[in-house]
Amino acid sequence: MVNSSSPELLRRVVVLGTGGTIAGRAASSDDNIGYTAAQVGVADLLGGIEAPEGVTLEAEQVAQVDSKDMSFDIWQQLARRCAQWLAQADVAGVVITHGTDTIEETAFFLHSVLAPSKPVVLTCAMRPATALSPDGPQNVRDAISVAATQGARGVTVVCAGVVHGGVDILKVHTYRLDAFASGDAGPVGYVEEGEVRLVRAWPQGEALPATKLLGTAGVQWPRVEIVMSHAGASGAVIDALLLSVGTEPLRGLVLATTGNGTLHHALEAAALKAQDAGVSVIRATRCVSGRILPKAGDALRDAGALTPVKARIALMLELLG
Ligand code: SIN
Repeated sequence: MVNSSSPELLRRVVVLGTGGTIAGRAASSDDNIGYTAAQVGVADLLGGIEAPEGVTLEAEQVAQVDSKDMSFDIWQQLARRCAQWLAQADVAGVVITHGTDTIEETAFFLHSVLAPSKPVVLTCAMRPATALSPDGPQNVRDAISVAATQGARGVTVVCAGVVHGGVDILKVHTYRLDAFASGDAGPVGYVEEGEVRLVRAWPQGEALPATKLLGTAGVQWPRVEIVMSHAGASGAVIDALLLSVGTEPLRGLVLATTGNGTLHHALEAAALKAQDAGVSVIRATRCVSGRILPKAGDALRDAGALTPVKARIALMLELLG
């Protein structure tokens, strides 16, 4: 892992492990779906991977989960570890190994709270580590190349040789190795034989002043639910959420709308009632590309190009203030 360049020229890339299929194990090498995620430690995922010239690798296990079970606590810990590593002068960037299922949520969260001036590169795999031909090692190597690239910045996700912006990334396929897209924004670039070919600017952003997320104390996340509009929808789910007894009160509601922000009239009536009762309501389109174009007189605000899951994170952070 450590290469032979002189120590004063060495830069570090830190690889944080969180689990996922990339760390998954199956009983047989020809089984690409019947595996258990989050079994292999991040240090082992780096075995056999050669760092770029002048770079040393460091591994740290932050979590070991199937990303469908990703939690706010892990997000907070991840944000904190990224901030601490990035603050060290010789750290060029951070790579995070992650499951594909919620990688877009973690990327958006980290973009929102860190907006780092150094690279934070998430990567993943669609096949477990035990597969006959796993995709994880190449994805990790590509992510390390991005993290070590001079001038790289912001939160990105690297998979199948494509660099996606952390805000734009969307999982669009259940099985193929190239399972992600960047919607209308398109990719940030490509990794080819360890070199990054940029096709647009690195992601820029402004970190939310949610600094308590980087502190040590546990954060009380506000309850925000997603309700989808569809043929035959009603207001029943929203009414039930407003009435829910014995659980945390509803603070926010994301409406996964049809098309350009439209809602079934019965769902819309219930959402307006929730808004009047003090719940923060926002519309986010369930279309995979495009954005909601607002119209004069809209009674419910919209999340622009954010998908419902990302709009939920944005709303939670807003409510955390
Ligand atoms: C996960 O998201 O942790 C499991 C699925 C995957 O990584 O592809």
